[in-house]
Amino acid sequence: KNTASIRKHLVRWYMKHHRALPWRETRDPYRIWVSEVMLQQTQVNTVIPYYERFLKRFPDVNALAEADAGDVLKLWEGLGYYARCRNLHKAAGQVVAAHGGKIPDERTRFKKLPGVGDYIASAVQSIAFSHAHAVVDGNVKRVLARIFRMDAPVNQPASYPQFRDIAATLLDTARPGIFNQAVMELGALICKPKTPDCGNCPVSDHCGAYAAGVTDEYPKRVRR
Ligand code: ADE
Repeated sequence: KNTASIRKHLVRWYMKHHRALPWRETRDPYRIWVSEVMLQQTQVNTVIPYYERFLKRFPDVNALAEADAGDVLKLWEGLGYYARCRNLHKAAGQVVAAHGGKIPDERTRFKKLPGVGDYIASAVQSIAFSHAHAVVDGNVKRVLARIFRMDAPVNQPASYPQFRDIAATLLDTARPGIFNQAVMELGALICKPKTPDCGNCPVSDHCGAYAAGVTDEYPKRVRR
C-alpha cells in the first residue's frame, strides 16, 4: 500500500528523531560491523560502553586480527553470546589474510565470513556501503507485521521469506542504510511491542493494524 509514501515518511521521521548513537557517527565498515554484532544480541544502552571500549582497544580490523583471543573475549565479558565474539575475531583474521585487511564490499563475499548471517550482511552492506539489501530483525518484523497486517508468526522460521520479501519491496534503494535504520528505529521508539505510540507514528496513515484498531494483535506468534 503506497510504498513510496511509507518510505518518504519513515526516512523523514528518522532524520528528525533518531537517537545519536556512536556507530551512527561513522561509515567505517569495521565499526558498523562491530556495532551490529553487539546489537544483534543486546540492547542499545548496554552496548554503548562495550562498543566504546572495544573500539578504543581494537580500532581497526588489523588490531582485532592480531589480538589474542582471550583479550578480545575479556572485553566482551558481560555481553554474552560469546560465540559471536569468537566468530568476529576469527572473521577479522580472515579479512586480513584473504582480503588484504579490507572488509568485502559485496554481500556474498562478506557473508562467507564466520558469524556473518543474513542480518549482519545486510546491515553492514547497506549502512557502510549503501548497497541495497533490506535488514530483517525483530523490530523490522513487528513494524512490517503491523503495517501490512501480516499473519505470518514472527517467531516461526517458515515466516522469514515473507518478511524478507516485503522488506525488500519496501526498501528505499536510494538510501538503504538510512531506510534500514529508520525501520529499526521506528520499532525501537514508536512501534514498540506493548503500547505502540501510534499518535507519533509517521506511517500510522499507512498502517493496516492501526486502521483496524488491532495493533495489539500484531505481530502474530505461535506457542512454542
Ligand atoms: N538494532 C541493530 N542495529 C541497529 C541500528 N543500526 N539502528 C537501530 N537499531 C538497531
